[in-house]
Amino acid sequence: MAKEEITNSKNNQSNILDEGIKEGIFGSIKDKEIDHVVYDRWMGGPRGPEKIIFKDGSAVMFKCDIRHYWMADNPDTAIREAIVYQIDKIVGLGLVPKTMVIDDVIGNIRYDGSVQVWIKNAKDGYQIDKFTDKERNDFERLRVFDFVIGNSDRHLGNVLFTGDDKLHAIDNNACLIINKDEDILSFASSIIYFFSRNVVQDMPHIVDLIVRFYENKDKILKLLDRYIHDNTELAKVMVESRINYLYNMLKKDKPFPRKYLEWRNGLKREVDCI
Ligand SMILES: Nc1ncnc2c1ncn2[C@@H]1O[C@H](COP(=O)(O)OP(=O)(O)O)[C@@H](O)[C@H]1O
Ligand SMILES: [Mg+2]
Repeated sequence: MAKEEITNSKNNQSNILDEGIKEGIFGSIKDKEIDHVVYDRWMGGPRGPEKIIFKDGSAVMFKCDIRHYWMADNPDTAIREAIVYQIDKIVGLGLVPKTMVIDDVIGNIRYDGSVQVWIKNAKDGYQIDKFTDKERNDFERLRVFDFVIGNSDRHLGNVLFTGDDKLHAIDNNACLIINKDEDILSFASSIIYFFSRNVVQDMPHIVDLIVRFYENKDKILKLLDRYIHDNTELAKVMVESRINYLYNMLKKDKPFPRKYLEWRNGLKREVDCI
């Protein structure tokens, strides 16, 4: 077996390739030799995140499928972690580390949940002084991405920086959940803020992401239909409405009125004349 960080399980690979997705949602770490595991026990809970370090020096973050450990009704968080990685690939975001669902028994221990490639030597958003231009651009793209998937947990602790102009979007399971009484388009304040202070011409990186979401809408909805087994219909309506909303906004040049754009262009001409 190739020495990948996480290996694909053969059973699921062909189905997933049919959908045009290159790497599977389901995988296995069975072929890797574990060196040691670092874990925390949740207060009052049986199992928290675990860092699994392999003999070859690579590592993954394992998060258990909490539905197997808690009595309360919980969403399938493991599949959400993995689906978000797939959506990142489909729209070319490139910020979510490779993530898969696993169900392996190694020794006597069952690893049933998600694994994500461990990002080495990273600092989170609270530990850095300021963004580079590239990091800021990527963070803005991430906010749009999070809006579409309804991610409610993107605080600065869930963004890692490696000092090479790259940011990494981790902890992606609090998404694709919406209550039927909630506003399907309910905007995070960051989105309102972002779109009210920018004009389309100033943000090709965002335009590109929205267009890719729009072009790949069917593929994404099919993915949700196939793999999300709780909250499926509402999650699909939410994602579809949000993609359509953003795309229409771009096409109509909304919410940036023509007058505002003219004013901006006038300003630019004045600046150019100085
Ligand atoms: N892929 C990763 N690479 C490096 N560190 C990670 C990774 N995933 C999680 N961590 C570290 O573990 C912490 C907890 O993981 P996280 O996925 O955020 O779970 P929680 O739901 O407990 O917040 C993170 O704040 C981060 O410090
Ligand atoms: Mg977290």
